Amino acid sequence: MCGIVGVVGKHEAAPILVEALKRLEYRGYDSAGIATVNEGRLDRRRAVGKLANLSDLLVHQPLPGKIGIGHTRWATHGAPSVSNSHPHQAGSVAVVHNGIIENYRELRAELAEFGIQPETETDTEIVAQLTEHYLQNGDAPIAAAYRALDRLEGAFALAFVFDGHDDLMVVARQGSPLAIGHGDGEMYIGSDAIALAPMTNQVSYLEEGDRAVLSRAGATIHDAAGATVTREIKTIAIDAAHVDKGGHKHFMAKEINEQPTVIAEAIRCYLPTGSNSVTLEGVDLDFRNVERLTMVACGTAYYACLTAKYWFEQLAGLPVEVDVASEFRYREPPMPAKSMALFVSQSGETADTLAALRYCTGKVDGILSVVNAAESSIARESDIALPIHAGVEIGVASTKAFTCQLTVLLILALKAASDRGTMDEAQIADHVAALRGLPSALNTALEQSEAIRRAALRLSEARDVLFLGRGIMYPLAMEGALKLKEISYIHAEGYPAGELKHGPIALIDKNMPVVFMTPTDALFDKTMSNMQEVMARKGKVLMISDAAGLSAGGNDLWNSIAMPEIHASLTPILYALPAQLLAYHTAVAKGTDVDQPRNLAKSVTVE
Ligand code: F6R
Repeated sequence: MCGIVGVVGKHEAAPILVEALKRLEYRGYDSAGIATVNEGRLDRRRAVGKLANLSDLLVHQPLPGKIGIGHTRWATHGAPSVSNSHPHQAGSVAVVHNGIIENYRELRAELAEFGIQPETETDTEIVAQLTEHYLQNGDAPIAAAYRALDRLEGAFALAFVFDGHDDLMVVARQGSPLAIGHGDGEMYIGSDAIALAPMTNQVSYLEEGDRAVLSRAGATIHDAAGATVTREIKTIAIDAAHVDKGGHKHFMAKEINEQPTVIAEAIRCYLPTGSNSVTLEGVDLDFRNVERLTMVACGTAYYACLTAKYWFEQLAGLPVEVDVASEFRYREPPMPAKSMALFVSQSGETADTLAALRYCTGKVDGILSVVNAAESSIARESDIALPIHAGVEIGVASTKAFTCQLTVLLILALKAASDRGTMDEAQIADHVAALRGLPSALNTALEQSEAIRRAALRLSEARDVLFLGRGIMYPLAMEGALKLKEISYIHAEGYPAGELKHGPIALIDKNMPVVFMTPTDALFDKTMSNMQEVMARKGKVLMISDAAGLSAGGNDLWNSIAMPEIHASLTPILYALPAQLLAYHTAVAKGTDVDQPRNLAKSVTVE
């Protein structure tokens, strides 16, 4: 959700900034811009739309200079337009920002008294105007920027450059992540380390409230109390290869196809080969005395939590409450004694999930998180952070992160079952063996891609689609609907199949495709009854099931997708693949922008 980058270097900054922004484009793509200081002169270029438009502009209007900042925008305040694009400049300072300045209206009113008027609809402009105001009053650049920062409320990562200063950048982190890259006589900043991968693998992360002054010689970091501090420089394993499409047309296709490999890696990390138990070596976690687990997340990660509720309750007898983070935090729920809270997030930076985690801190017996970004705020603020090992996920629609989250959550539920004695060794070993067979079943599911593409061609003509499932397939029905709507823009809803007759059945007619997630599990016969209800009203049934299920589905199906048979606990992980492929091929058939769907951004660092 907005990406910021910066360089104080020895080489021309513009190409470095554009390359770094390319790697952050998944965070927002409404507009992009860069500012540099060249021979003391601050200047900027901005363009609406994808980053390619900025690159084109730079061909015609190059921007020289060896220090610069850049931004890719996901609009919050003000429509995508050149004037609302970052960097924002007021006099001799330019600023890029990720996050939201909550008190910008008050600050605007204050500056209005000095005759300073807004020229854009953004909240960010006020940061530049305030800094310029302090510069005009005689402050030096660092002091002016720090004084402006003192006045800001909200969540932000910010970078400032100044006219007349080609070896000075000020940056700050409060609520939005910021990485500092250390090069050879060059310094970089980025919203995440991926942006910096081509330049350096030596990265330190600012902590909450940190500010830093960068020059070619290095960074001086101050903590929230103003003390000079050092932040550990880590060697980051991200190499340039991680952000190419690996021969696929889209990142999403690549990431869907990576699932057998990354899930195998997650299983290997948590269940070392040769072991049939779920001891989770090195993870200091015991569910014996836990009486309730609260799980909180957003979007796809929320559906992972809803799925895991079935596992924790059925396998481990542990009561679970699940909530979307944006609701949970304002509900002010009481947290009973002997409870734990578990937060699930791919990015580890989702503002609502992070706020929910902070709400629970000190109120529960343990804060757990299941994250993809190991250095993220959510990981760092948890007592125990469990990585999902999905690797970098670039496609805005989450795919491999979802199934890796499910895999790790199932392993955690098995650990809880083992701690609490609700499953014996043989039952655990049975699940572990099934998990070890999962990557091969996922490969078999991927072989259905062509059949799914043909089904998607027909689905792409629909205006609305229903996804139905029962029991543990109900959250997946909602995830299938979310995937379809976010990348194909077809209206889709996920429902528990049993709820159909309580309202949604009114929608069924000959134009309504209904996707049934129907493994031959304990609820299969009941789901089949719901399918008959749809067929009786001429709804178009697309059934996803194993061979036995499809044969029971009969000849009147509109379409079908065959899945291998699998252990009942693993069906949500396996059936996620056809749901993802259905959305993907439908979006491709409709010609939408699969990897960067309209209005969305990957890392949602604002409320
Ligand atoms: C949908 C999707 C989103 C995210 C949600 C939470 O495909 O990706 O719904 O799941 O924004 O993001 P994280 O997991 O980063 O907290």
